[in-house]
Parts: sequence; structure tokens; C-alpha cells
Amino acid sequence: MTMPSIVDGLRGSGRGIGAFNAILLEHAEAIVAGAEDARLPVILQISQNAVLYHGSLAPFAAACLSLAAHASVPVVVHLDHAEDEALIDQAVALGIRSVMFDAAALPYADNVARTRAVVERCHAAGCWVEAELGEIGGKDGAHAPGVRTDPAEAAAFVAATGVDALAVAVGSSHAMNTRDAVLDDELIGRLAAAVPVPLVLHGSSGVPEDGLRRAVREGITKVNVGTLLNRVLTGKVRETLAERTELTDPRKYLSPGRDAVRTAVAQTLRLLAPAPSP
Ligand code: G3H
Ligand code: ZN
Repeated sequence: MTMPSIVDGLRGSGRGIGAFNAILLEHAEAIVAGAEDARLPVILQISQNAVLYHGSLAPFAAACLSLAAHASVPVVVHLDHAEDEALIDQAVALGIRSVMFDAAALPYADNVARTRAVVERCHAAGCWVEAELGEIGGKDGAHAPGVRTDPAEAAAFVAATGVDALAVAVGSSHAMNTRDAVLDDELIGRLAAAVPVPLVLHGSSGVPEDGLRRAVREGITKVNVGTLLNRVLTGKVRETLAERTELTDPRKYLSPGRDAVRTAVAQTLRLLAPAPSP
């Protein structure tokens, strides 16, 4: 299943799709299992930061692509927040057909020029490209700087670069440990009307469930979630180890964590894809 076949049909439908970041194999297994529980498609993301943690992309990409190939629901493997163009080329060579090129920290003209070059190379290889305009705060853990994406500039950026989806800054911030971000719903609506490709929300772990429901209703299609899964996994592992101090086999404390992530993924997917009203 390809990314356009999943997200293009969702654009304008008031429904969204969850895109979850995996760092460990247990995350990836839980993300696929949660999607199977919900009977919904899912996007399985590997970020450049996760690649740095592992030291290389190939082993984890192979595991994620294999999980996707054997899943009973559509699963798209996506390279997330890639700033390194060589990493994008490597992902494509490994069989990944969906990437985010993140040049949002660059001045507008440089972001356009570099994104356009990446899009040309990726499209020639049949790879879908997401880019970002209006840097979404907190990638290093800091709280939101209150950046917003301008709809006219967003439309011009998409036309100039040929990107397949656009990550927009509408009030969320990366790596929040509380769910109290307030999204600018009115701006999401204006961006959805102005931009002819699916919109992506980053930093969704900080957004309360109602905020996510409204965001997809107003026009967000792809909802990126990372920190929430780490909160759930680490919380469950911590609880298990506190209750059973004798444990040393990681399978004994990671499996309850993996089950908790699976439940959180299924719940998030269901809230993003409400059944159409009769
Ligand atoms: O690209 C990944 C997402 O933006 C994840 O953000 O960890 O704050 O949920 P989050
Ligand atoms: Zn992000």
C-alpha cells in the first residue's frame, strides 16, 4: 500500500490517519498490532534521530518494512524529519517510499530550493515527499515558540516545490509531556482551503483528544505522534519494574510496555478516523 493511496482519499473527508514514531522494535511491533486491532491503516515512522540512535538506518528499516509487508492492514513505512539528503537517498535505496524532508529551519528561499531538488529525485524513484513550512517548535524539547504557517505562503511553497504533503505550524510543539496544546482550528481550516495537498500535524502528543478530533475535522490528514508512545511505554515499564524488582529479562518488562503502546495506538487511530455519520 502506498502513501498517496491512503492519504489522498482522506484529504477533505474530515478523517485523518495516525503516523507513529518507532525507536525500538517493540514500538514498531505495537504500532502495527494496534492498527490491526483497530482495523485501520497506519504510518510507521523512523525519524533521523532514531537512525542516529541506532547508528544506521538499514537494520531497523528492514524490520519495519517486514512488519509492514506481513500486516493484515495497510502500513506505510516513512522516514521522518530527515534533514540529511543522503539519508533520504539511502531510505529510497532500502525500499522506503515515503519521506519527510525537513528544511524548515532554513530561510524560505533555501527551503524551497532544497525541497524542490529532493522532490525531483524522490518522485523519479516513486517516493512520496512531505516538507515543512513554519518551523514546529520544540524539536529539542523546548516548549512552543508560537510559530504559525501562513496559508498564502503555504500554497506558494507547495506550488514551487511539488511536495505531496505539507507539515504546518498551527499551535502544536514537539515532545510535550502534557496534553494542553491549543490548536488554531480556524487557521487549519484556512490552510486546508488554500493548500492542494494533505496537511500534516506534528507534535500531536501535546494535543488533547478533542483537539485532535477537531484538527482532522478542520483539515489535518496525517497526525504525527511520538512522545505519547514513549510516555506510555516508559510509564508501564517503570510500573512493572517497581512491582517486580527481581526482573532482569527485558522481555518480562518490555512486553507490558509494548501491550500498552498497542492499546494507545488503536485508541488514537480510532479517534482520528470516526465512522461517517449515517
Ligand atoms: O514527527 C514526529 C512528530 O511530530 C512527533 O511529535 O513526539 O511531540 O508527538 P511528538
Ligand atoms: Zn515532527
